[in-house]
Amino acid sequence: MINPKHKAAQEAASYVKSGMIIGVGTGSTTAYFIQELVKLFQQGIDFATIPTSKATAVILQQFELPVLSMEEVSTIDLTVDGADEIDKELQLIKGGGGALLQEKMVAFVSKKYIIIADESKCVEQLGHYPLPVEVIPFGYKAVKMVIENTYGIKVVMRMKDGQPFITDHGHYILDCHFKRIDDAPSLHSHLNNITGVVDNGLFLNMADAAIIGQSDGKVFTVSI
Ligand code: A5P
Repeated sequence: MINPKHKAAQEAASYVKSGMIIGVGTGSTTAYFIQELVKLFQQGIDFATIPTSKATAVILQQFELPVLSMEEVSTIDLTVDGADEIDKELQLIKGGGGALLQEKMVAFVSKKYIIIADESKCVEQLGHYPLPVEVIPFGYKAVKMVIENTYGIKVVMRMKDGQPFITDHGHYILDCHFKRIDDAPSLHSHLNNITGVVDNGLFLNMADAAIIGQSDGKVFTVSI
């Protein structure tokens, strides 16, 4: 049976039309969406893509899909991306792959923003998945301490191969173990008001729809 993530990606591909500029997300679910984009391109559907990360840009180029930079476009017709948590109101936690800043920029200029995922990403309450907060390297320990002390939570500096994980835009990631987030809008603005924070992984009131692939092979779409 087809993988639920792949099923969701196939459904999202039905929104792609000739002439569109498509924002392409980051992660394992989006990788299936790229497979579907390749098929559409080979069928003669003409579109251009905007990647949400360097990793996605490399994959798009490997498949010889047209890739534009953000500076070349004023708007994006459709963006399809994965998520780490999705609640019933389509509020999201993203950034598990470390690409949250560029993902949020691409989403921000998109006319339609569709999330694809399997059922494991659907939650009653945001916050079990550690919230990624992107910070500048200078003074990151002070920012980490402010978040720990303000919220009384564990904050973990993201590492890779024994070194700080560096985002595509040269920043660090602090993974914040809130366990539950009751007031996402106020948390979002408080975190982003801390000097040194670039952005955080709460994507609020951004998604138009979430396409969820189920283990029985069906998909369902939640839309606003
Ligand atoms: C990347 O930074 C994240 O926002 C991803 O979109 C998210 O982690 C989903 O990844 P998977 O599709 O691999 O679960």
